[in-house]
Amino acid sequence: MQAVILVGGEGTRLRPLTSTVPKPVVPLVDRPFISFMLEWLGKHGIDDVIMSCGFLATSVRNVLGDGSGLGIRLRFVEEPDPRGTAGALKFAEPMLDERFLMLNGDVLTDIDLSAQIAQHERTGAKATLSLVPVADPSAYGLVHLNEDRSVHDFVEKPSPDAIDTNLISAGAYVLQREILQLVPPDRNVSIEREVWPLLIGKGLYGFPSEGYWLDIGSPDRYLQGTFDIIEGNVQTAVVQRLGSDWLAIDDSAEIAGRVIPPAVIERGVRVAGGAHVGSLVVLGEDVSIGAGATVERAVILNGTQIGEGCRLRDCIVAAGCRIGARTSVTGGAVLGEGVTVGADNVIAHGARIFPGVALPDGAIKF
Ligand code: GDD
Ligand code: MG
Repeated sequence: MQAVILVGGEGTRLRPLTSTVPKPVVPLVDRPFISFMLEWLGKHGIDDVIMSCGFLATSVRNVLGDGSGLGIRLRFVEEPDPRGTAGALKFAEPMLDERFLMLNGDVLTDIDLSAQIAQHERTGAKATLSLVPVADPSAYGLVHLNEDRSVHDFVEKPSPDAIDTNLISAGAYVLQREILQLVPPDRNVSIEREVWPLLIGKGLYGFPSEGYWLDIGSPDRYLQGTFDIIEGNVQTAVVQRLGSDWLAIDDSAEIAGRVIPPAVIERGVRVAGGAHVGSLVVLGEDVSIGAGATVERAVILNGTQIGEGCRLRDCIVAAGCRIGARTSVTGGAVLGEGVTVGADNVIAHGARIFPGVALPDGAIKF
């Protein structure tokens, strides 16, 4: 079966991680984010994927190639200008089968697509939306169902007074090609605002799902997704890598300090004596952790060097950074690629430092 994944957004809320790397290929645990989605699709029999790209399509293609490594045929289409969620699909129309899946490319999930496809067939729907409960639906598309699971109404980004259910659209749809007759060509069209309303009472169904679901669009959600993967709260291939001790440590890593599971430690990592790493930590290739440093609930990407006595907690440090001795990075802070921070700094409270910035010793304390 075929799937179209929409990856045309700019990922602005994930900056500075997405300042240098497009969101679909930002590393998550041990692979580009979108690989989790491709593996999930593969489990449900999808073998033909069209990536609908806007921004930075070439770098997405360079990282993913033609999909042969995953046993999936992977093709890329690039709109001439951003066409919106339905306009992008319309642009890909010549490549589409009679029935296909459409996915928003920014969610981590293991919902049961096979069951959703089976319901779609049973009801004879033109479009079936998977639905998940969330605590705050205001940033999503709110859905009310009738008894027979046909959609009663759909409200995109509901105002607080319109929220009386917690079921939202998960951004995973089974679609019949004929719905594209409702989409005018050559302009920006929103599937949520302009297509779903036209289909109510005419073949629009919802599929309430019990799987794991997370939109990874912000740094705290990126960290949450990382922790859920390495704790096994979402079904992914990483769980096999971690094994029964919930630790994946590459054989080439040199560990003199302590590592507390769950944790993923990649090739060439060095953890000096007296350092504590974990729990809930990912250290990318060639990361080094200085003597006596503590790193917990954190992601440190390839090649980054953490000095002696540093304290890192609840933070993301991108690739190629250097952090001087005794500096602390906490409270949801995010350091972009190639940032240099001198000794004795205190970086906290959701600070975001953009790629390539250099801070001298003792420059920031708050
Ligand atoms: N190719 C292309 N072109 N892709 C686009 C475009 C475009 O013009 N605009 C957005 N996308 C992609 C984004 O990259 C993302 O993967 C997906 O379409 C959805 O866009 P978002 O901007 O992330 O929408 P949202 O999160 O506010 O809301 C959507 O997702 C929610 C679930 O996370 C809606 O579909 C909601 O109804 C839904 O609840
Ligand atoms: Mg989104």
